Amino acid sequence: MTQYITVAADDRVEAKNGVIKLHGPEAFAGMHRAGRLAAEILDALVPHVVPGVTTQELDDLVYKLTVEGGGTPATLGYRGYTKSCCISINHVVCHGIPGDKALKDGDIVNIDVTPIVDGWHGDTSRMFLVGDVPLKARKLVDVTYECLMLGLEQAKPGNRLGDIANAIQRHAEAHRYGVVRDFCGHGVGRVFHDSPEVIHAGRPGTGVELRPGMIFTVEPMINIGRPDVKILEDGWTAVTRDRSLSAQFEHSIGITDTGCEIFTKSPGGLDKPPY
Ligand code: MF3
Ligand code: CO
Ligand code: CO
Repeated sequence: MTQYITVAADDRVEAKNGVIKLHGPEAFAGMHRAGRLAAEILDALVPHVVPGVTTQELDDLVYKLTVEGGGTPATLGYRGYTKSCCISINHVVCHGIPGDKALKDGDIVNIDVTPIVDGWHGDTSRMFLVGDVPLKARKLVDVTYECLMLGLEQAKPGNRLGDIANAIQRHAEAHRYGVVRDFCGHGVGRVFHDSPEVIHAGRPGTGVELRPGMIFTVEPMINIGRPDVKILEDGWTAVTRDRSLSAQFEHSIGITDTGCEIFTKSPGGLDKPPY
């Protein structure tokens, strides 16, 4: 059974045992600021995501942009993670660790950033196309963005998490793509990964009912092939088991009286490629 609790803006305790937090205007304002910085960072990366740049160079840039924007990267030191963002290339599903690897022509790349601003976490990711990308890969990226936005259309009071999940799953599977089950969206706020778990495949009319004040991410990972993933030896990098290409977009949102507020929309209109 779901229990909803109204939390004060200074609450920093992770919700447990099916408890769902309902946040007030101060939290929405805080998430708006954090989400805007997150989106600005991704906007600023656009000219740098080119063949030859290393993922470490991009991570350094994310660090600099985060700090200059008055934030700190939530991932830095998070459960032993030591980078300022995640960069996931081609068949990497999520949690790719920046390093020596250079981007090459034809790559599709997800960059996921989470600046903390005044204690609030702005969590968002987008796909980037490196140089000349084959149509098949561009199609995956387009459909994955559509999956996210179709999911968000269902994010309104009275609907359930299963309605968001089903909208995503139906669109992905209509294109014969696989929806990753091993990673989910999550409640977000002063806590990075909070309740509820936001699934990306499921049945309509099921799961937690959405109420005004809920704040969470939606971040579908869609594979050209099977949904199955495996984690590499580094303990973080998730890849498709069949090595098929994978794409992801993520927004942080808050449920309002009539629908949802997207905290992480691009100020520059750069929500999806081509940029
Ligand atoms: N930003 C990721 C998310 O969307 C979480 C990354 S955690 C890390 O939830 F440690 F891998 F960076
Ligand atoms: Co997230
Ligand atoms: Co993220």
